Amino acid sequence: MINVDTKHILREVDYDAHLEEIQKAHELIEKRNGPGGDYLGWAHYPETYDKEELERIIKAAKHIRDNYEVLLVCGIGGSYLGARAAIEALNGLLGKDKIEIIYFGQTLSPTYVKQVLDYLENKKFAINVISKSGTTTETAVAFRLARDLLVRKLGKEEAAKAIYATTDKEKGALLQLSKKYGYERFVLPSDIGGRYSVFTAVGLLPMAVAGIDVRAFLNGMKIGLEKYGKVENNPAYLYGLLRHELYKAGYPVEMLVSYEPSLVQLGEWWKQLFGESEGKEHTGLLPDAATFTTDLHSLGQFIQEGSPVLFETVLDIIHPAVDVIVPHDEDDLDGLNYLEGKGLDYVNKKAHDGTLAAHEEVGKVPNILISLDKLDAEGLGELLYFFMRACAMSCYLNNVNPFNQPGVEVYKKNMFALLGKPGYEKK
Ligand code: PA5
Repeated sequence: MINVDTKHILREVDYDAHLEEIQKAHELIEKRNGPGGDYLGWAHYPETYDKEELERIIKAAKHIRDNYEVLLVCGIGGSYLGARAAIEALNGLLGKDKIEIIYFGQTLSPTYVKQVLDYLENKKFAINVISKSGTTTETAVAFRLARDLLVRKLGKEEAAKAIYATTDKEKGALLQLSKKYGYERFVLPSDIGGRYSVFTAVGLLPMAVAGIDVRAFLNGMKIGLEKYGKVENNPAYLYGLLRHELYKAGYPVEMLVSYEPSLVQLGEWWKQLFGESEGKEHTGLLPDAATFTTDLHSLGQFIQEGSPVLFETVLDIIHPAVDVIVPHDEDDLDGLNYLEGKGLDYVNKKAHDGTLAAHEEVGKVPNILISLDKLDAEGLGELLYFFMRACAMSCYLNNVNPFNQPGVEVYKKNMFALLGKPGYEKK
């Protein structure tokens, strides 16, 4: 169960007083007749997803797990962040799984690309290339390089068997390539944009390869739809409303805070979801993310006493998967025996409480608290859906299209012109 606590936002926001605007925005989501309405395929996905494809994903994942040492996930933005966020959140940062997942195609850095290619030289690897368009430069270049390596190692025919493509069903360069070489294909539905695609094959295949129970994850989304697909008593819409109200109250920055390093990539996914959905028409909150207590030793000073530009949204996992007990030490030279026998979770939670009081009471930083019981595959599915609903709500309250990203094209056009890509000549 996800709970949104409004007690620390330093003002009153009454959900019921905003029911009319919330109802209006909710109808835009449900009827798909608002800006970007053609990209609301994710909203009722638990009811509409392709069950046969799910079975195929699970089967392919098992084959990859049983036959390869590494899965190279080749994608960027919405075609990669969700899978990475979910895998790290559920498997941790030092997973001991029999298969390794490496993320590729999300950078043009020759240093990183070369390092990965060198590493793969002596590994048995498969590729999951994920791109709706198939023309995204970072992903396409990386895929070409990885494919070349695979072909050099295995020959064309065998290499094709190790490549899995997730792309649009009807169009695009990757679809053509997959058809030509016979790669196994999975679909990114045309009515779902990249940053809302984690519940499709985009997220599910890498997650299943990482050993995650994707059925439970999808079930979390279904639970999410039941709880957050309505107006009454909806914590997701409440969170969307709070963000909107705090933005109007003069806070242009939202910082998502968690106390779990394995949620750093969740923060990256969340930044894309909210930033790309909301940051347009010279409006919207700047989404930032931090991990406490780590970042209290770097950003803590700014949050406490710097420009009063931000509010915090703190994600609290009530029951972490494990705990570690502080041991006794005979000498106690580090002065830690007062914590002897206590769990680190207890210490972390006290840090949380102390920080909340410091930021709220002394720093006057509004805090939205989002808590969930535990973070398993189902809980994570519910959480990601919660954020997607909240994001659509915030954007419609702010009168922007949550599902396009016109601004992203500007740099691409410049880059293509500078690189001499045909059709993008400098004017
Ligand atoms: O959310 C989005 O739309 C973007 O982040 C895209 O997912 C990203 O640019 C990758 O695009 P594509 O899947 O076409 O390679």
